[in-house]
Amino acid sequence: MLALRRTVRFNINSGGGAGGTNGAAGVPAMTGFGRHYELEVTCRGEPDPATGYLVDIKAIDDAVRSRGVPLVARACQDEPGRDPAGLLPELAAALRPPLGPGLHALCFRLTPTWSITMSTETPTVVVLRQRFEFAASHRLHAPTLSDEENRRVFGKCNNPAGHGHNYRIEPAVEVSLDPRGALSPGELEAEVEEHIIGWLDHRHLNADVPEFDPGRGGLIPSVENIARLCYERLAGRLDARDGVRVRSVTVWETDRTACEYPAR
Ligand code: NI
Repeated sequence: MLALRRTVRFNINSGGGAGGTNGAAGVPAMTGFGRHYELEVTCRGEPDPATGYLVDIKAIDDAVRSRGVPLVARACQDEPGRDPAGLLPELAAALRPPLGPGLHALCFRLTPTWSITMSTETPTVVVLRQRFEFAASHRLHAPTLSDEENRRVFGKCNNPAGHGHNYRIEPAVEVSLDPRGALSPGELEAEVEEHIIGWLDHRHLNADVPEFDPGRGGLIPSVENIARLCYERLAGRLDARDGVRVRSVTVWETDRTACEYPAR
């Protein structure tokens, strides 16, 4: 079994709008102050031995543009304040006939940092993801190791004055659609702002954050430990809400280094 993902970009223009030949920028093309969205479609199954294809990506593009985009356009026009999470089951139902039982998940990216995902196996649950940024400095130093061993293990990350990173963090939060879980995007942002960003942003983690302070038995502020503590803090807040569960938290230390806790 394999999974094929295809991202389809499109623009919703007031008064309709058609045309556009640049699928990478979105079809239909942007007109005036249109809205730009992405819908990522995941299909699962075995490829056709003759073609090597699981699904022809042109069929995914056609399905989204002919069946999905009108649903989004109608919601934008008639119900602009509606919770977009509720549209995902309708989108899945619209895409199922052309794409068949291999249709596995939809990820609706409303902004570059905000997305809603639904698996067709669990159509009453959506996963909200919002990305945040914070800057912090740290020093990697294990008190159980000698100074020489610390330098060998951590290299320049062991320099006494520390160094900084521009971190990114993305919680993935499961929210029930039926009954609707009690978490709006604004509430998720407020919780992360108060309990993660306010806790870590513009701090020296070893010196300013007790959980990473070696003098208080704190953990080494590796990206692994940061991701786990962020998950525990956020889950401790959000899992108490009805129909809400933090699935995981991903922390990027650099563009090339990230940790997700718990792993999925
Ligand atoms: Ni570092």
